[in-house]
Amino acid sequence: MIPSFAIALILAIAFDVHAAPSPHSSAGQTMHLTRRSPDRTPDEWAAWAQAQKESLRTKYGAAPSVARRGSGTNLIVNQNSDSAYYGSIAVGTPPVAFNVILDTGSSDLWIADRRCVTGCDGVAKFDSSQSSTFTNLTTSFSIKYGSGAAAGSLGQDVVQMAGFSVANQKFGVCDEVSSNLLYSPVSGLMGLAFSTISSSRSTPFWEALVQNGAWDSPVMSFQLTRYIGENNANTLEPGGTFTMGFVNQSLYTGDIDFQDIPANQESYWLLPLTGLTVGNSAVALPTASSNLAAIDTGTTLVGGPSAIVSALYAQIPGAVAGTGNYQDYYIYPCDTSVNVSMSFGGKSWSISPQDFKLTPLTQTQCLGAIFNLDISGTGSPAWIVGDTFLKNVYSVFRYNPPSVGFAELSDTAKAMSNLRGTVPSPTLGAVSAEVTANGGNTVSSTTNSAGRSINHWAPLRLIPMALSIAFASSFVLVYL
Ligand SMILES: *[C@@H]1O[C@H](CO)[C@@H](O)[C@H](O)[C@H]1NC(C)=O
Ligand SMILES: *[C@@H]1O[C@H](CO)[C@@H](O)[C@H](O)[C@H]1NC(C)=O
Ligand SMILES: *[C@@H]1O[C@H](CO)[C@@H](O)[C@H](O)[C@H]1NC(C)=O
Repeated sequence: MIPSFAIALILAIAFDVHAAPSPHSSAGQTMHLTRRSPDRTPDEWAAWAQAQKESLRTKYGAAPSVARRGSGTNLIVNQNSDSAYYGSIAVGTPPVAFNVILDTGSSDLWIADRRCVTGCDGVAKFDSSQSSTFTNLTTSFSIKYGSGAAAGSLGQDVVQMAGFSVANQKFGVCDEVSSNLLYSPVSGLMGLAFSTISSSRSTPFWEALVQNGAWDSPVMSFQLTRYIGENNANTLEPGGTFTMGFVNQSLYTGDIDFQDIPANQESYWLLPLTGLTVGNSAVALPTASSNLAAIDTGTTLVGGPSAIVSALYAQIPGAVAGTGNYQDYYIYPCDTSVNVSMSFGGKSWSISPQDFKLTPLTQTQCLGAIFNLDISGTGSPAWIVGDTFLKNVYSVFRYNPPSVGFAELSDTAKAMSNLRGTVPSPTLGAVSAEVTANGGNTVSSTTNSAGRSINHWAPLRLIPMALSIAFASSFVLVYL
């Protein structure tokens, strides 16, 4: 999902909160320090202060803020035949588990408040009065997506996921949620893009971890399962794997083809769309810099500029633009196997014909999964590349250097699709690394670190209502 009103913020600078690793303090070292002449340099004072702190920690047995580096896995759930993918977090003391959409297209965490009366039917709600570590920041919180909006207040508490913990994570506690935004058992959303586009101006959970060195490797990754077109698929099916701090080599083969995010554009996970083919025909594209794509696990389909999307469908014999309820979508003959490939500066990656075929409308007419989405504003992505594409690759989101990588799914990963396995229960893992988030973003200006202003998003059109009806048991989430 991508918020409609991404607040322009300067890139949060991660202050290095940890001094150089201080040697385990022995009495001898302490004596050595205390005997030194007092005219220390600031660095020496800092080292001394760290050594004092470490010796007290050792003495009293308190855990350091980063226990050790680590890596973790969250088994995710595929909801409504590839419409959405959610994982599990735990919030508060004692910890309470919640399911949240894992969304690389936005940067805020929020969950439904116990006071929520609309849009929260049947979902687990957060009761802040039951958490001894909750702090009400008494600031309002709101975020808008293409599919709806959520609003409430901003709070702070311990948040855990996949064996990681952030002691003072800021998040929205939402009592107003528009209908069709949360589908039970999902209670909220975990934004996995950069802090620059956080509506609450908070450091996202993942960024707090990676900035504080909690991860073995500065990456997170997704392997998403496919159930679309599977007639007997359940509403909830195993969704694949989300990892933090490592990539799981059992889930891909060959190399990960990393492509850098354009310089100083860490906001969404942006890559230029440099190649688009349908069958053997290339579709003409504008220059890379004006053709950025947000790689977005929180959006179901793939949306792009109508001029280019219509040129793509023009290559499919018998395809026509939809009208009425299907405006901005395209209808094509179901017996055509459509093979669309996309490249982002490197290798070309195919969307399987099965993923392209969103749903049959009649016996012979099918709806395509790539639709018109005209987003205006410089610096805005022209494309939203969602799960229709991401199911076909192992995707890696790398903090440093900022880049997105794709790799071929392994046979092990492919075998997890259409498997009809057991839906994972919340997988939180034992906490191996705990961090304290930096004291919020030191931001107030509307430019990023490079001085380039980021435009606010224009509100985007919602998915035509009738589409959710057409999909019978499935729904499409296009959160922009
Ligand atoms: C936080 O405090 C505000 C009043 O300042 C209140 O409206 C809101 O419901 C509180 N939020 C939570 C989660 O307790
Ligand atoms: C990697 O994925 C495989 C296949 O799902 C799984 O069996 C294995 O436990 C995973 N490894 C780690 C370290 O999570
Ligand atoms: C789709 O096209 C690519 C080349 O563009 C090819 O490698 C791949 O095998 C094709 N897939 C199908 C299902 O036809």
